[in-house]
Amino acid sequence: MSRVHKSTETDEWFFSSDAYILSETDDKGIILYANDIFCELAGYTIDELIGQAHNIVRHPDMPRIAFKGLWSDVRTKGFWTGFVKNIRKDRGYYWVYATVLKKVDTKGNVTYLSIRRVPDRSDVEACTTLYAELNTKS
Ligand SMILES: Cc1cc2nc3c(=O)[nH]c(=O)nc-3n(C[C@H](O)[C@H](O)[C@H](O)COP(=O)(O)O)c2cc1C
Repeated sequence: MSRVHKSTETDEWFFSSDAYILSETDDKGIILYANDIFCELAGYTIDELIGQAHNIVRHPDMPRIAFKGLWSDVRTKGFWTGFVKNIRKDRGYYWVYATVLKKVDTKGNVTYLSIRRVPDRSDVEACTTLYAELNTKS
Protein backbone atom coordinates (compact mmCIF):
# COMPACT_ATOMS: atom_id res chain seq x y z
CA MET A 1 0.00 0.00 0.00
CA SER A 2 1.18 3.53 -0.82
CA ARG A 3 2.49 5.64 2.06
CA VAL A 4 0.26 8.56 1.07
CA HIS A 5 -3.30 8.55 -0.21
CA LYS A 6 -6.06 11.00 -1.02
CA SER A 7 -9.49 11.04 0.55
CA THR A 8 -12.16 9.83 -1.87
CA GLU A 9 -14.50 12.65 -0.77
CA THR A 10 -12.31 15.73 -0.22
CA ASP A 11 -8.92 17.16 -1.26
CA GLU A 12 -7.35 15.97 1.99
CA TRP A 13 -4.33 13.66 1.84
CA PHE A 14 -3.21 11.20 4.52
CA PHE A 15 0.05 9.43 5.34
CA SER A 16 1.09 6.28 7.24
CA SER A 17 1.04 6.40 11.02
CA ASP A 18 4.57 4.95 11.12
CA ALA A 19 6.02 7.71 8.89
CA TYR A 20 8.16 10.70 9.90
CA ILE A 21 7.82 13.69 7.56
CA LEU A 22 11.14 15.56 7.83
CA SER A 23 12.49 18.87 6.64
CA GLU A 24 15.32 21.17 7.66
CA THR A 25 15.67 24.90 7.08
CA ASP A 26 18.16 27.67 7.62
CA ASP A 27 17.36 30.58 9.96
CA LYS A 28 15.32 32.27 7.23
CA GLY A 29 13.11 29.24 6.64
CA ILE A 30 14.79 28.21 3.38
CA ILE A 31 14.49 24.46 2.83
CA LEU A 32 17.86 22.68 3.03
CA TYR A 33 16.57 19.11 3.24
CA ALA A 34 13.32 17.15 2.92
CA ASN A 35 12.88 13.38 3.08
CA ASP A 36 11.20 11.25 0.39
CA ILE A 37 7.84 11.08 2.10
CA PHE A 38 7.76 14.87 2.59
CA CYS A 39 8.15 15.21 -1.19
CA GLU A 40 5.51 12.55 -1.86
CA LEU A 41 3.01 14.09 0.55
CA ALA A 42 3.55 17.68 -0.65
CA GLY A 43 3.57 16.58 -4.31
CA TYR A 44 6.95 18.14 -5.19
CA THR A 45 10.26 16.66 -6.34
CA ILE A 46 13.22 17.26 -4.05
CA ASP A 47 14.71 19.66 -6.63
CA GLU A 48 11.56 21.78 -6.52
CA LEU A 49 11.85 22.12 -2.72
CA ILE A 50 15.54 22.67 -1.93
CA GLY A 51 16.29 26.41 -1.82
CA GLN A 52 12.61 27.41 -1.60
CA ALA A 53 11.04 29.19 1.38
CA HIS A 54 9.16 26.72 3.59
CA ASN A 55 6.00 28.77 3.09
CA ILE A 56 5.75 26.97 -0.28
CA VAL A 57 3.48 24.55 1.65
CA ARG A 58 1.71 27.24 3.72
CA HIS A 59 -2.05 26.77 3.58
CA PRO A 60 -4.13 30.00 3.61
CA ASP A 61 -6.25 28.54 6.47
CA MET A 62 -3.19 28.64 8.78
CA PRO A 63 -3.30 31.70 11.07
CA ARG A 64 -0.24 33.98 10.99
CA ILE A 65 0.04 33.79 14.78
CA ALA A 66 0.82 30.06 14.61
CA PHE A 67 4.02 30.75 12.65
CA LYS A 68 4.88 33.76 14.79
CA GLY A 69 4.75 31.38 17.76
CA LEU A 70 6.74 28.73 15.91
CA TRP A 71 9.62 31.07 15.06
CA SER A 72 9.66 32.79 18.43
CA ASP A 73 9.58 29.51 20.41
CA VAL A 74 12.11 27.70 18.28
CA ARG A 75 14.54 30.63 18.40
CA THR A 76 14.22 31.29 22.13
CA LYS A 77 13.34 27.89 23.66
CA GLY A 78 14.74 25.61 20.95
CA PHE A 79 11.51 23.79 20.19
CA TRP A 80 7.87 24.18 19.15
CA THR A 81 5.06 21.69 18.69
CA GLY A 82 1.76 22.24 16.92
CA PHE A 83 -0.80 21.15 14.37
CA VAL A 84 -0.26 22.42 10.84
CA LYS A 85 -2.44 22.27 7.74
CA ASN A 86 -0.24 22.31 4.65
CA ILE A 87 -1.03 22.76 0.98
CA ARG A 88 0.22 20.43 -1.76
CA LYS A 89 1.46 21.42 -5.18
CA ASP A 90 -1.87 20.21 -6.65
CA ARG A 91 -3.72 22.42 -4.07
CA GLY A 92 -4.81 19.41 -2.00
CA TYR A 93 -3.97 19.60 1.72
CA TYR A 94 -2.74 17.50 4.63
CA TRP A 95 -2.57 17.91 8.41
CA VAL A 96 0.49 17.10 10.50
CA TYR A 97 1.51 17.15 14.15
CA ALA A 98 4.88 18.92 13.98
CA THR A 99 7.80 19.14 16.36
CA VAL A 100 10.30 21.82 15.30
CA LEU A 101 13.76 21.82 16.87
CA LYS A 102 16.75 24.14 16.78
CA LYS A 103 19.93 22.33 15.76
CA VAL A 104 23.40 23.75 16.44
CA ASP A 105 26.37 21.99 14.86
CA THR A 106 29.89 21.84 16.27
CA LYS A 107 30.81 25.07 14.43
CA GLY A 108 27.83 26.91 15.93
CA ASN A 109 25.80 26.94 12.71
CA VAL A 110 22.07 27.00 13.45
CA THR A 111 19.44 25.14 11.42
CA TYR A 112 15.89 24.06 12.24
CA LEU A 113 14.45 20.58 11.88
CA SER A 114 10.77 19.66 11.68
CA ILE A 115 9.59 16.12 12.44
CA ARG A 116 5.94 15.50 11.57
CA ARG A 117 3.62 12.64 12.49
CA VAL A 118 -0.02 11.80 11.87
CA PRO A 119 -2.22 13.98 14.13
CA ASP A 120 -5.20 12.67 16.09
CA ARG A 121 -8.42 13.38 14.26
CA SER A 122 -9.93 15.06 17.31
CA ASP A 123 -7.00 17.54 17.33
CA VAL A 124 -7.46 18.25 13.61
CA GLU A 125 -11.13 19.00 14.24
CA ALA A 126 -10.35 21.27 17.22
CA CYS A 127 -7.66 23.13 15.25
CA THR A 128 -9.93 23.57 12.23
CA THR A 129 -12.35 25.48 14.48
CA LEU A 130 -9.66 27.34 16.42
CA TYR A 131 -7.72 28.46 13.31
CA ALA A 132 -10.93 29.65 11.61
CA GLU A 133 -11.67 31.79 14.71
CA LEU A 134 -8.11 33.15 14.79
CA ASN A 135 -8.35 34.06 11.10
CA THR A 136 -11.46 36.16 11.66
CA LYS A 137 -9.57 38.16 14.33
CA SER A 138 -6.41 38.97 12.38
C1 LIG B 1 11.93 23.63 10.36
C2 LIG B 1 10.72 24.43 9.92
C3 LIG B 1 9.66 23.78 9.31
C4 LIG B 1 8.53 24.49 8.88
N1 LIG B 1 7.51 23.80 8.32
C5 LIG B 1 6.43 24.47 7.86
C6 LIG B 1 5.37 23.77 7.25
O1 LIG B 1 5.34 22.54 7.15
N2 LIG B 1 4.33 24.51 6.78
C7 LIG B 1 4.29 25.87 6.88
O2 LIG B 1 3.34 26.47 6.40
N3 LIG B 1 5.30 26.55 7.48
C8 LIG B 1 6.35 25.87 7.97
N4 LIG B 1 7.36 26.57 8.59
C9 LIG B 1 7.21 28.03 8.79
C10 LIG B 1 7.60 28.81 7.55
O3 LIG B 1 8.98 29.07 7.59
C11 LIG B 1 6.84 30.16 7.47
O4 LIG B 1 7.11 30.96 8.61
C12 LIG B 1 5.31 29.97 7.36
O5 LIG B 1 4.99 29.13 6.28
C13 LIG B 1 4.54 31.29 7.20
O6 LIG B 1 4.95 31.93 6.05
P1 LIG B 1 5.36 33.47 6.10
O7 LIG B 1 6.41 33.57 7.17
O8 LIG B 1 5.81 33.78 4.73
O9 LIG B 1 4.09 34.18 6.47
C14 LIG B 1 8.48 25.89 9.06
C15 LIG B 1 9.56 26.55 9.67
C16 LIG B 1 10.64 25.82 10.12
C17 LIG B 1 11.77 26.52 10.84
